[in-house]
Amino acid sequence: MLPAAHHTTRWIADLGLPPLPREELERCSELSQQIRQQITAAGGQISFCHYMEQALYAPTLGYYTGGKQKLGNSGDFITAPELSPLFGRCLARPCAEALTASGGDTILEFGAGSGRLAVDLLRELEQLGQPPKNYWILDISPDLRQLQRQTIARELPAWQSRIRWLDHLPAKLNGVILANEVVDAMPVHRFRIHQGSSQEAFIGWESRPDGGAFTLHWQPSALTPEIEALGLELADGYSSERNLLADAWIHELATHLQRGLILLIDYGYTRSEYYHPERSSGTLLCHFRHHAHPDPLLLPGLQDITAHVDFTALANSAHAAGLEVAGYTTQGNFLLNCGLDQLLHPLLQGSSDTLLEPIQQVKRLTLPTQMGERFKVLALSRGLAHPPSGFQRHDQRHRL
Ligand SMILES: C[S@@+](CC[C@H](N)C(=O)[O-])C[C@H]1O[C@@H](n2cnc3c(N)ncnc32)[C@H](O)[C@@H]1O
Repeated sequence: MLPAAHHTTRWIADLGLPPLPREELERCSELSQQIRQQITAAGGQISFCHYMEQALYAPTLGYYTGGKQKLGNSGDFITAPELSPLFGRCLARPCAEALTASGGDTILEFGAGSGRLAVDLLRELEQLGQPPKNYWILDISPDLRQLQRQTIARELPAWQSRIRWLDHLPAKLNGVILANEVVDAMPVHRFRIHQGSSQEAFIGWESRPDGGAFTLHWQPSALTPEIEALGLELADGYSSERNLLADAWIHELATHLQRGLILLIDYGYTRSEYYHPERSSGTLLCHFRHHAHPDPLLLPGLQDITAHVDFTALANSAHAAGLEVAGYTTQGNFLLNCGLDQLLHPLLQGSSDTLLEPIQQVKRLTLPTQMGERFKVLALSRGLAHPPSGFQRHDQRHRL
């Protein structure tokens, strides 16, 4: 049975959404049952990080591994590549430069979603006369890999045999690594400050007449050194997250990238903004059918659970791993620096009924109140003689 079934059903109805289809209900119940067994086996609770990892990535049942439609209007959220081809076209410029400068021939995209970014980027690179020899995709989601194959077959058939789906990072890579909205989907630890000490969030299970529910508990934390390492004075009652997996991930990228550029695009902040006193309940956010809400215990496997990205942490990890931090700015600035206005210009020469769409897309991608400032771009590099395009104006590395 669905956890907190009555509450969940009412919550969905209150949002004005149709009830859950039967197969989604069953998958959510099965995953909940599986997590409950893990809670029992662990003596009554598991860390929040473990819960989030299961909810998103449990084999065949997690949000990213269980086949639910995630992206687009009939899914739960829309990303920049889904919003406009201009996003991928803009990325072509720094990618082309980095391919040339690194002497490399490969672009590797992490978490390629529907395959939209790959299509728009490869088309633009072909236009520029600089297609890479290889385009590799590393995505944890079997159903998204399938969707990526379909998108490529439909829109770029000539690339069908040239794109490779990998299970691991290649031993050596010269070229470009891209990840748009991937780091925010990594499981995080949650902590709070209580009576001057740090506590960590754990998830338990409480049986109730309606079947029971997952419950959140705070326990003395093994994370204290990681929280102290932030070097911040956090007030009593303050709660937030730490993404401890990203450090190992950046080190792994650094080990495999011989020469080239890494572009990480996501919603997030510098450390002082992330752990700002006013952001006192953290950044954890769930997405279900285009409704954002803060309850990760609802609908395990059926909703996305995300946390904003601490870009200072990524930059520190990169530095420690021997990469250069080559640029940091907002998505709006990045796209304009990559020539978004020049790409838009020819689109505005059409008839009045085709003008509106690209203008709306550019507004959503760049306006500070939309994706323009909430999303940031971090460039990491190794062995490149020149800074990448995208950061000429308003490079904000000094704020990291
Ligand atoms: C929020 S979606 C973004 C999709 C796409 N980049 C876009 O912008 O439309 C997150 C993507 O990352 C993938 N993903 C999540 N965790 C991953 C991991 N550890 N390794 C590789 N891919 C991952 C998901 O399957 C999905 O394709």
